[in-house]
Amino acid sequence: MCGIIGIIGKEEVVPRIMEGLKRLEYRGYDSAGIATLYDGKKIDRRRAQGKLVNLEERLREIPLLGTIGIGHTRWATHGAPTEQNAHPHATPRVAVVHNGIIENFRDLREELSAAGHQFETETDTETIVHLITSFLDQGLDPRAAAEAALKRLEGAFALAMIFDGEEDLMIGARRGSPLVLGYGEGEMYLGSDAIALAHLTRKITYLEEGDRVELTRNGARLFDEAGREVIRPVTMATISGGMIDKGNYRHFMLKEIYEQPTVIGQTLGTLIDPLQGKITLPEFPFDLAGIDRVTIIACGTSYYAGMVAKYWLEQKARLNVEVDIASEFRYREAVMPKGGLAIFISQSGETADTLAALRYAQAQGQHILSIVNVPQSSMERESDMVLHTHAGPEVGVASTKAFTCQLAVLACLAIAMAKARGQIDHGEEERLCQALTEVPARMAEVLNHDEAIQALADDVAKARDVIYLGRGPEYPIAMEGALKLKEISYIHAEGYAAGEMKHGPIALIDENVPIIVIAPTGRLFEKTVSNMQEVIARKGRVIFITDEQGAKTDSEEAEATIALPMLDEFVTPLLYAIPVQLLSYHVAVAKGTDVDQPRNLAKSVTVE
Ligand code: G6P
Repeated sequence: MCGIIGIIGKEEVVPRIMEGLKRLEYRGYDSAGIATLYDGKKIDRRRAQGKLVNLEERLREIPLLGTIGIGHTRWATHGAPTEQNAHPHATPRVAVVHNGIIENFRDLREELSAAGHQFETETDTETIVHLITSFLDQGLDPRAAAEAALKRLEGAFALAMIFDGEEDLMIGARRGSPLVLGYGEGEMYLGSDAIALAHLTRKITYLEEGDRVELTRNGARLFDEAGREVIRPVTMATISGGMIDKGNYRHFMLKEIYEQPTVIGQTLGTLIDPLQGKITLPEFPFDLAGIDRVTIIACGTSYYAGMVAKYWLEQKARLNVEVDIASEFRYREAVMPKGGLAIFISQSGETADTLAALRYAQAQGQHILSIVNVPQSSMERESDMVLHTHAGPEVGVASTKAFTCQLAVLACLAIAMAKARGQIDHGEEERLCQALTEVPARMAEVLNHDEAIQALADDVAKARDVIYLGRGPEYPIAMEGALKLKEISYIHAEGYAAGEMKHGPIALIDENVPIIVIAPTGRLFEKTVSNMQEVIARKGRVIFITDEQGAKTDSEEAEATIALPMLDEFVTPLLYAIPVQLLSYHVAVAKGTDVDQPRNLAKSVTVE
């Protein structure tokens, strides 16, 4: 979490740092700040609580000048999101921006306080500036002081720092959290990711674990964890410099929901050969047919995509599949017989827990496959194989199009693995590919239900609790629906396996609790409808999301019915994701919450 940008430039840097921070706001928006060297000498800074507009306002009141500077947008870990706790943190000798957590900050703080350092904030980051200052006070030069301080830090971090009187020096460091170096003409940059620097340069070097970098206007020297000077590859980032805008949509989330037919089409286009009716995966560095055990790890919405994939891989490819959330998996010391396939699903490719789980699986001799949306992310770089979701940049904190694109990739993978293992013949492969190819057009039809869904929102917005029910692959969609509602409307919601209802949650049902039942016709339809009847019998108010056939037979007692187009059972999770996204969106709008940047959340979670 937290976004970092640094520019050591030829002209005033603050406007360009602000633009970089806007690109990084998805990483957190509790507070923000910038530090520069005024007159090329003295550290000067402006900070503000809340979103970037507040910092912009502060900068209008009291402008900040300088041709070298560092900026930060914060997602609070240690210390409340106040101006006082906002980055950059500084002493008169050094200013630092930090993403991550310094785990030994209490010990360091005690030690430095005992030595006479005065702390002004509650943050772990402030210990870094005092630590560096203590080394500077001992007579070390800035490079040596930074190196010495880094050796004392435990935890995960990406850092950028500038020093009093050093107008041609910026130092960056990475351990656990990503950091990229950007090359300009007589300028150099640091950023949390390539997006932060896309308005400045496409020429990028990704720092490796443990790297430290010393930037001057004319270049950079990189050092590895052992302090040896190293050369890292320079790549051209594929991200375009233009800011992503909302177009005619009121929110990014709505725009991204509406983009789904297009981006699903794009994603499927990279994996399906429609003429031959077959999946065309890029070449894998291992034999898919030889895999008999799959572990899927992810967080949040990406985890629910993994849960859907479990149904697909078990049913179609007859594989042994385990799915877990990364924060649990990474510490539970799972037994992973060598040669299994471990799949990591992540929009950002940077989620700290997922990345740690990936490293664990690697150490257990698994083949590592990542499914990521952001190219060149840390997960991609550490995997044996990557499949991209072609969702394009997703700005809304609540994931929508990245989720359905993950499903599209996983569906293709399931078909390919089923075929490779001889579980399906070409005819079945062709049929499943055909079903997937129909998804974008059917999705566009689902979007036509937007108004009908919006009409339900005012009522749902009044609820204190909402329950989502589904069976089979629609069970994870129920969980995803509940997560979406919680994230952006702050209404308590639960996604439950419809058949599990009677073992507890049914006690919650009364006329005040809306129940969203997700039930396409198919193998499990009648069973889900029976569970719906149990709810209705207890005065539950049901919103029934089904297809045209289901609506004909079973919609009578539901308070409202959304009838989606008919589609092959295999691909229904992609389609049924949309109404639950739209419902949570309209409920949030009805409640007047901040849809794209909901409270307390961030889009890229680079802390544990
Ligand atoms: C955060 C986001 C979620 C996302 C999750 C996992 O919590 O708010 O939308 O699903 O992280 O992120 P990833 O980038 O790994 O998919």
